[in-house]
Amino acid sequence: MTTPSISFQYRLEDLPKTVEAFWQWAKPYRIIAFDGNMGAGKTTFIHALCNLLQVQDVVSSPTFSLINEYRYQDDGVSRIIYHMDWYRIDNEEDAIQAGMEDAVLGQADYCFIEWAAKAKCLLPRPFLNVSITTISPQERIMNCTVIM
Ligand SMILES: Nc1ncnc2c1ncn2[C@@H]1O[C@H](COP(=O)(O)OP(=O)(O)OP(=O)(O)O)[C@@H](O)[C@H]1O
Ligand SMILES: [Mg+2]
Repeated sequence: MTTPSISFQYRLEDLPKTVEAFWQWAKPYRIIAFDGNMGAGKTTFIHALCNLLQVQDVVSSPTFSLINEYRYQDDGVSRIIYHMDWYRIDNEEDAIQAGMEDAVLGQADYCFIEWAAKAKCLLPRPFLNVSITTISPQERIMNCTVIM
């Protein structure tokens, strides 16, 4: 069986359209793991996605708090998103100590995790791996793969 995957190339001005196409494809996956260098655009993408979903809370990078909780309405149903940033996490053990395993296994409808590679083996499968690469100051390529 082939692993489902999809790619997007986009500039900042394309983000609203790109997140819409992304979400049509990615919505079934509860855990979305974002990788990419500093400044690749992980937070920017999650912010745009939260705008699409009409999240009611302020979306910001949880670099110090490790986890932010957002809410939105999906056809009248209240949904919870955990936005995590594992940049300050060293490894799996550190992530468990910080409560991140409990968080990914917890009651959130979605987990969007920046720097997920720091402790990828904690993620329940299947999950969606999203890797963002900078190809010019304005352009990014995003490769999305389902990890079974
Ligand atoms: N096509 C693009 N997509 C996303 N960001 C872009 C794009 N073009 C330029 N940028 C700029 O790149 C920067 C991306 O920063 P952002 O904080 O989203 O990165 P990050 O991957 O979350 O970094 P960190 O690892 O520090 O959390 C922003 O300043 C944004 O304006
Ligand atoms: Mg970020």
